[in-house]
Amino acid sequence: MTDAGGPAAIRQATVDDIPEIRRILAAHEEDGPVAPGGVDIIGPYLRHFVERHRSLVSALDGGIVAYGSVLDTGMARMLSDLFVEPGRLGQGLGRRLLTALLEDAPVRATFASSDPRALPVYVRAGMTPLWLCLYLEGDAEQLPPIAPTLTVWDATPDELAILEETWTGAARLVDHGFWASQTRADPFLVKDAEGPVAFGYGRARQVTASRALNRLLIRPGADPVPPILAGLARAAGGGRVQACVLGPNPALPLLLGAGFHVVDHDQFLSSDPSLVDPARFLPNPGML
Ligand SMILES: CC(C)(COP(=O)(O)OP(=O)(O)OC[C@H]1O[C@@H](n2cnc3c(N)ncnc32)[C@H](O)[C@@H]1OP(=O)(O)O)[C@@H](O)C(=O)NCCC(=O)NCCS
Repeated sequence: MTDAGGPAAIRQATVDDIPEIRRILAAHEEDGPVAPGGVDIIGPYLRHFVERHRSLVSALDGGIVAYGSVLDTGMARMLSDLFVEPGRLGQGLGRRLLTALLEDAPVRATFASSDPRALPVYVRAGMTPLWLCLYLEGDAEQLPPIAPTLTVWDATPDELAILEETWTGAARLVDHGFWASQTRADPFLVKDAEGPVAFGYGRARQVTASRALNRLLIRPGADPVPPILAGLARAAGGGRVQACVLGPNPALPLLLGAGFHVVDHDQFLSSDPSLVDPARFLPNPGML
């Protein structure tokens, strides 16, 4: 196999690169027009990474041929994106860009697509395939009734960032600010008799008018199923909702039994199998 990664110059991405980055994403059907009732999700997401985290591009022949980004969660370096231009796949560009993005980070994590080149590159970078991340979609009215012991409250990103740091040790104030800034974002807190038991963000989507549950984190040790149902109901806002549920999550059989459909899947990998509790975390696959 020829290694065309050699002559490509890896450099920091700037906001001026975003249109070219979007062209590469669109070529992999990871970006596209905003659907009626949807919002631009990808544009602000890329800007957040360029301005607040670490985004690199591979420049070759006067253009950009690959893009990748990482963020440090305080617990791990998370590979958020890695995309090579379709005409240059399998030539070493992805592997070289990944090395530059991960540097010597001791704990690494990512969500791999079904592209056959993705998982081998991540395994060689020290990550182990752990769980499927199943994208489940369904209607609010399909959800079982919410436990009467739970209440759901509006929340601020600052209080949710403090709660996350208390529960996991991860300091994510900048990302909470971003999630709350997304168009039609809905930060919320679920409480039980002991106090906060889960929090998350509902958000709009780009490809459809339905909503997404953008992360749900549940208090360590708590029964995860009732707060997951409450979080899905809140994020759905009475309509359709999509969420990423990890394979071992006990809510998975319940949601499938209620008629939720698997619409896509990714593979979660990490160098540390204890990085997240798959029963008590519905991740944002781009940002963990
Ligand atoms: C995934 C992706 C970023 C990898 O970048 P790339 O430049 O194409 O990949 P590389 O050439 O650097 O490395 C691919 C490796 O996988 C290996 N590989 C390919 N198919 C394989 C298979 N079926 N089994 C095992 N290894 C395989 C190749 O041999 C190569 O390893 P080598 O460098 O030791 O020869 C790129 O293919 C891509 O953009 N894919 C489409 C978008 C996507 O799915 N991105 C990933 C999001 S998680």
